Order: sequence, then C-alpha cells, then structure tokens
Amino acid sequence: MKFIFTFICWCCVINAIGQRCGTTDYLGQHGASIITGTTTNTETAGRDTLKNEVIVIPVVIHIVYHNNAQNISNEQVLSQLEVLNNDYRRLNADNARTPVPFASLAADTRITFCLAKVDPNGRHTTGIIHKYTKAELFLSDDEMKFSSKGGDDAWDSKKYLNIWVCNLFGRTLGYSVLPGSPSNTDGIVIQYNAFGTTGTLNPPFNKGRTATHEIGHWLGLRHLWGDAVCGNDGIADTPPQQSSNSNCPSFPHSSSCSVNSFGDMFMNYMDFTDDDCMNMFTHGQKNEMRGQFATGGFRNSFLNSTVCDSSNAQGDPFPEDDINAGISVYPNPFTDQVIISYKNVSEAAGKTIKLYDVTGKLYLTQILKSSKTSISVANLPNGIYFLKTESDVKPKIFKLIKQPSNRF
Ligand code: ARG
Ligand code: ZN
Ligand code: CA
Repeated sequence: MKFIFTFICWCCVINAIGQRCGTTDYLGQHGASIITGTTTNTETAGRDTLKNEVIVIPVVIHIVYHNNAQNISNEQVLSQLEVLNNDYRRLNADNARTPVPFASLAADTRITFCLAKVDPNGRHTTGIIHKYTKAELFLSDDEMKFSSKGGDDAWDSKKYLNIWVCNLFGRTLGYSVLPGSPSNTDGIVIQYNAFGTTGTLNPPFNKGRTATHEIGHWLGLRHLWGDAVCGNDGIADTPPQQSSNSNCPSFPHSSSCSVNSFGDMFMNYMDFTDDDCMNMFTHGQKNEMRGQFATGGFRNSFLNSTVCDSSNAQGDPFPEDDINAGISVYPNPFTDQVIISYKNVSEAAGKTIKLYDVTGKLYLTQILKSSKTSISVANLPNGIYFLKTESDVKPKIFKLIKQPSNRF
C-alpha cells in the first residue's frame, strides 16, 4: 500500500518539547515523493514469501566516525544485531511487560538479521565498515551515505540493509527512508551512542530500540499516531492515539481518541517512549512488514540475497581504512590555510610535518601539538606541494595544490 505522509512541521513542534523525530523530519525535507514515489518494481517478479518462512535480512554496518568514541566496536554492533533478532522474533526478555490486554496482539514477525559475509565485489567481509570522516557531525541530509561527502557509499540495497552509524546533530536518535526510495540512500541511520547495548550509550536509549524502530519504517511502518493529531498509521490492530508518547507512561494511558479503556499502545516500537518501555510489534504491523517481501513488494529481492553465506565469497576482505586514514589534510586545493587533522591526539603529538614544492624545496616545518593544526600558507606561490609527515613508521605524503585566493 502506498500512502502519503503529510508533513506539518511536526518536528518543529516535537523538537521544541524535547522529543525526537528523525524520520518525520527527513521525510519532511524530502517530500512525499519518497513514499508516493514513481519507483515501480520493474524487475522480474520474484517468488512470494512462504507462509511461515523466516525472512533473513543481510545487513551492512557503515560506522562513519570522527573520533574514537564514535568508532564503536564490533562487539557493540553484535549487541545491536542481537536486539534486532530478539525484538523481531518476540524473543525480547521484556516481552512479559506487554500489558495483558495487548498481549494477544503482540507478534513474532519471523524476520531476522545477519551480518553480510560477502561484499558487493564478491569478497569476504565482516559486514562492518569502520570509516574515518572529517565531519564532526551529520545532519539528517544523507551526507553519511556518500563517500564523496565524507560518508560511506551504500551497498546494493536490493541485497543489503544499509545501516549507517554516525554522530547525528542534536537530539536525533535515528532516521529511515520508507520502502521505494532511491537505492543510493536506502537504509537507516542511527546515532552512535544509541546503537546496541554495550559500549558508551546514552540512556534511556541504551537498549538498541532505535534501530528496531527505524527498521520498522524501512519496512513500511508509520508512527502509531500517524504523525498527526489522532492520525492513522494504516494498521488496524494498533489503537488510535492522540500524539507521540515519551518517557514511560503507566498503563493504561488514554488520550482523546482512545477507543477503549486500554488507551495508547505506548509500549509499541513505533512510539517514542524510552527503550526500556518498548516491547512489541502487532500482527497488523507484522503483516505490513512481511508484505514488503511479497512478489512485487519493495523488499522482495531480499528473498534471493545470499550475501550472508560466506561460501559465496572469494578473496580477502577489502582492506579497511587506507594508510592515510588516521590523518586528513584539507582543504585541497588550498588558498590561505591548510588544516592537518589526526584521528587522535596521541598519534599527532610530537610529529613533524614538512611542506615541499615539486622541486624538493622545503617551505615549512611544523611540529604538531594537538589533533588539529592549522598552518598559514597564504604567502606560498601557487602550484603543487607535497606535505610529508615524519617520525611515522611509514611517512605519509599528501599532494596538495595551492590555488589563488578568490577574495578581492
Ligand atoms: N526516529 C526517532 C528519532 O530519532 C527514533 C525514536 C526511537 N525511540 C527509542 N526509544 N529509541 O527520533
Ligand atoms: Zn520514527
Ligand atoms: Ca492503527
């Protein structure tokens, strides 16, 4: 089913009251075209889902980090995968906390997740990419999804669920596209300290439920309140509710459009409550999500994805982070200053950098003291330079171009 998200600047409202709205905000910026979209599934119809089939979704994690804290561990990634596999199969330890009147509505979606073992070039992979970025933070504008913008390019979204983990601006925990959006931005984005259950996390979003929620969107689910006052999420067995809930209300929590005394289903993953408060998807949500995998559905191609089977991989993993990864030198071309930025201070401190021109003439020597050093080069003649780092095991060399200043 295709539906239209009406964007009425909820996010302004939501942000003002300190709540979180990543996906609604994102959809607002990108218009309803993502959902109503012109994207039709023109590929040969695949097989349908089988009735009780356990659907397996291969996942690739793009960790796009600027500092060590953001470069989350593989262990933290695994803890998130575990949450997803528990939540989507209703194996979550807190499933007993679903209030009794809602318990019969709670569903095992029979959807699971695996880390990719084969990369798009057919090589072995861990399914986890750690990539340094110069960007200290990202807005919800998809830059983390493009290598050319300091992010990391999506892997084929017909076979992989792309999950970008990075430092999102402000209080945004995550956002997602809906099914049918362009392939190069298809996937979800999660704030690095709201991902998984181990590592440095930001309570009350420390139980991995942000990814559970965003993948709900990725599989076509809307917020329970339909992003409008007593709006509609298109799902019959989620009760109507006036607006989003936050923190953790006590049951029952009624609102103006409640149809019975049980009130809001605030413990549903598609509300905005604390991680510790959420514990269910409904059968209606399950059917909507599984429907995406049916013949003609936007996620149908996943039924043929074999990228979690390492026997399909050949060759060594692609080397992570190139040798210059820990250091970046920018802008290039430069005009009046060059910034040398190291991933961490310990690597930079005491290191000497030298700047030569093409003839080997030394123009500048500088000892680094902090992780970021700006050098003034306004007086250098225009042309090509080489910046060399010394006292490194392997010296690193950057080719830089000085261009005329365009300031008059
Ligand atoms: N899209 C929502 C946001 O950033 C995610 C809410 C997730 N809720 C949670 N308890 N983890 O704002
Ligand atoms: Zn959402
Ligand atoms: Ca509903």
